[in-house]
Amino acid sequence: MTDTHIAAAEGSLPIVIVGHVDHGKSTLIGRLLIDTGALPEGKLESVKAMARRRRMPFEWSFVMDAFQAERDQGITIDTTRIAFQSEQRRYVIIDAPGHKEFLKNMITGAASAEAALLVVDAEEGVQEQTRRHAYLLNLLGVDQVAVIVNKMDLIGHDQDRFRDIEQQIRTYLTEIGIAPSAVIPISARHGDMIAQRAQALDWFDGPTVLEALDGFEPRNATKAQQLRLPIQDVYKFDHRRLFAGRIESGRLTVGDTLTFAPDGKTGQVASIESWNTPAPQISAVAGQSVAITLRDDVFIERGALAHHQGTAPRTSNRLYVRLFWLGADALSVGETLRLKIGTNSREVQVQRIDRVIDVESLQGLESDQVPRNGVAEVELASRDPIAFDEYDKHPKTGRGVLIKDYDIVAGCIVLPGALGQNHASSATKNIFLTPNRVDGAVRAEKNGHRGGVIWLTGLSGAGKTTLAMALEAILFDQGYQVVVLDGDNLRHGLNGDLGFSAAERTENIRRTAEVARLFQDAGTIAIVSLISPTRDDRDKARDIVGPSFHEVHVHADLSVCEGRDPKGLYAKARSGALPNFTGVDAPYEAPTKPELHIDTGGETVDQSLQRLLTFVENNFSKSRTARRGAA
Ligand code: ADX
Repeated sequence: MTDTHIAAAEGSLPIVIVGHVDHGKSTLIGRLLIDTGALPEGKLESVKAMARRRRMPFEWSFVMDAFQAERDQGITIDTTRIAFQSEQRRYVIIDAPGHKEFLKNMITGAASAEAALLVVDAEEGVQEQTRRHAYLLNLLGVDQVAVIVNKMDLIGHDQDRFRDIEQQIRTYLTEIGIAPSAVIPISARHGDMIAQRAQALDWFDGPTVLEALDGFEPRNATKAQQLRLPIQDVYKFDHRRLFAGRIESGRLTVGDTLTFAPDGKTGQVASIESWNTPAPQISAVAGQSVAITLRDDVFIERGALAHHQGTAPRTSNRLYVRLFWLGADALSVGETLRLKIGTNSREVQVQRIDRVIDVESLQGLESDQVPRNGVAEVELASRDPIAFDEYDKHPKTGRGVLIKDYDIVAGCIVLPGALGQNHASSATKNIFLTPNRVDGAVRAEKNGHRGGVIWLTGLSGAGKTTLAMALEAILFDQGYQVVVLDGDNLRHGLNGDLGFSAAERTENIRRTAEVARLFQDAGTIAIVSLISPTRDDRDKARDIVGPSFHEVHVHADLSVCEGRDPKGLYAKARSGALPNFTGVDAPYEAPTKPELHIDTGGETVDQSLQRLLTFVENNFSKSRTARRGAA
């Protein structure tokens, strides 16, 4: 289950071809191989001859089958890759026998596609399986997608019908957050628009399949990335200590100062010893196994993650992962497992389980447990800090496996916004989580809505408190469990010891986020109304709360807020009597991608409230009737 590098050959782009079984994937692959000269000389002729002998009409997919059979006999070196080459670069097609295997391979790291072709049959259009596969790509973060509308010959190369299908698929993909780079009409059987353009499709002025592929961007080559060297072993020879490991990304040079996460110890590289190159070596790159010595005697243990200063991985005792569960018994909150990430291994406890998806049906499950072959987003906590990366930034050190009783029970990738600022790492030693007996799904069922957080951010005077209080009253009448956490109010009690320096605001926001999270876990909708002026602090709040965090920008221009000045504070600030006032002499960073934007300068309170209510209905509500008093 370690990285088997099915597709990791530096310089070739790993792609996956997905779509409904009958929509022509293997014909397309067969054609791609022929048209790019990837098949050995004479192969096509022998396959055609074989078809004649068996009195079967020739199918391009036979080429694929023959290719497969040959690989199975071990003629090519690596049995799991199908490679071909355009004029621009090499490609590797990742085999996806079924979506379960594909998902498992992708999450566990056995394979990693960076782009996808989604094949749709021109006659049949978008089918259930097309949708599922598209969703799957989205789940795995494969966002470079071209849609191939195959079998155009069967619909007489009809442009109108093509446009219909294009519309259908674009609408669906947009809904799930994928913007296809192209939607291309082709006929794989006739080789139209794969490597060559076709007369019959001359009305189409987009790219051929090969051109679309060449348009995809490869992920940063690991050699060019930041240095990551997980320490695999520490050897002692006479007075020297050797630190051995494989460079997962980046480059290492003698004289570099390295930092070793999670402890943060540093040392300068004195030498690089390598097993299979003649010493001495001055530098080494991703993919090489090395042993280094340091100038000073620094005590570093196996499992440390070496990096350069200023490009540190995350260090935390909480992280948020998407996992593929292989265990025989379902995974529950509170369970203790061993997380292996890089060369490090730590005991972790499952804190929370979100977004459980059944892999067969790709349906979301309302459950706090992950069944075998389920995918879920899970928060893990360990007593000691762990060094790791986010998968989309550093695939090699952003992926791990979970182990239970010596068996691998899950593969996982670390999601962005991994949790925990490590503020409590030493304090939480010897503290264990006990899961609640009342499951979140049951609470939601009973309340008729999910718990969550609506985080209103904006300048003083933008209208946050007004909207928060009015929204709370209406939601309460409608039977929601709801509470407002207002900045001014909290500063009378819980946050009474905090002022308005950047550090104190950060702490104010952290505490409020933790409280909001407790309300959320209790099934309540917490409406938070805090200026929360920095993106960083709001992102940390999002990390604390998790996926039910909804950021709402309550916006009005500074001049409007200042004109309203409900508490007279702008006037005070302008006169110099109130330093660090947000908008005057302290900064406000507007959200770049809030879940909702409300412009109180341009709409009435009622209009803003209506939009907030619709937002709540869409994001939290389950059933109106289940809610207290709302029959
Ligand atoms: S935050 O920046 O830490 O998120 P918070 O929302 O809790 O701020 O508190 C803001 C409220 O404190 C304002 O509505 C205002 O009434 C009051 N306040 C007092 N001093 C300041 C200041 N220097 N900057 C902003 N708000 C202030």
